[in-house]
Amino acid sequence: MRVRPPGAPVPPAIVGTAAGTIFGHLVRMNDGPPHQALKPDITAAIDGVDRHRMVSEAVRLFTRSIGADIGGCNLDTVLFTLPVAVVARLLGAADPELQTIVEAVNDFVKCLPAHATPEAIAAADRGAAQLLGIFEQPAGRAGGLFSDLLRRAREHADIDSAAVAANAIGLMSQTCEATAGLIGNTLVALGRNPDLLALAQYNHDAIDTIVSEVVRHDSPIQNTRRFAVETCRVAGDTIAEGDAILVVLAAANRDPQANPSPHRLMPGRNTARTFTFGAGSHKCPGETLANSIAAVIVHELIAGGLDPSRHAAVVQYWPSANARIPRFAVAG
Ligand code: HEM
Repeated sequence: MRVRPPGAPVPPAIVGTAAGTIFGHLVRMNDGPPHQALKPDITAAIDGVDRHRMVSEAVRLFTRSIGADIGGCNLDTVLFTLPVAVVARLLGAADPELQTIVEAVNDFVKCLPAHATPEAIAAADRGAAQLLGIFEQPAGRAGGLFSDLLRRAREHADIDSAAVAANAIGLMSQTCEATAGLIGNTLVALGRNPDLLALAQYNHDAIDTIVSEVVRHDSPIQNTRRFAVETCRVAGDTIAEGDAILVVLAAANRDPQANPSPHRLMPGRNTARTFTFGAGSHKCPGETLANSIAAVIVHELIAGGLDPSRHAAVVQYWPSANARIPRFAVAG
């Protein structure tokens, strides 16, 4: 099984565009040598992020963009911008670049769904070109995740710097919708469970545990896909060459054989099995980072007086084939 259909390593609609260039290099979208060459470096670089630095950066950006005006902030904007800005800063981006980067990442991710419109693809291409322009120039980004990744990759002669730049951009695009969903779903969980909200308000450490259980119970990424390059058998079924499998990670999280009473939201389950971040060779390297970013932002919102119950009463969700992201502005 492979992560892309045989014969279409890059979606035909973006072949030859800047968006296609990034897509074609992503470890997420490759198997075999391109994946094996960079995945260990990406994992090691993310694992090397200093958690204290990440937390203080997230708090600083939160204060700078929202300040004390929690009631007046647009939650949807917070969800789609802050996590990307945090990862951009970890990559070594300077403050004046952040707005351009965050907008470009949000444009770039629009080309990822299979049903992307021509307008979305054009915006994605413009965003991708801006991001490549910024991240193909590693100068001035010393001491960050990007320079760490570049240093590690340069130890292998066969990795070109374009692949490193694309995957640095990939860290932000992987963060964007998934972490927005995780923060949003945590706010919904808090808004619907007064006891949990009280716990989060008085014991901020509990937010980490709540976020981890929301990851399982209300998975921000619901599914991923695999494509058969040869006829094979999966779980007793024959999968023909060229067939696609939709792997419903969110359903696996609710399998009673994996988690007793799976439909109950129970922070602190000590034997939780969570499939939200995938498994095997393509497992997400950003799990700890994503959970930490989500916990800090939820903490800042709650500590600043946000009342999640007001937002969780009627929630709509952004249209998406694989992500579950609340749309608060519509909910009111
Ligand atoms: C709640 C947030 C996140 C969720 C739910 C999530 C989920 C996933 C899943 C399910 C995969 C595997 C897809 C597959 O096997 O088909 C994946 C891959 C990946 N994720 Fe995440 N992710 C999140 C955040 C992040 C963050 C913050 C980063 C980095 C800063 C990141 C970086 C990556 C990368 C590089 C891959 C590709 C790994 C590979 O193909 O080997 N993710 N993610």
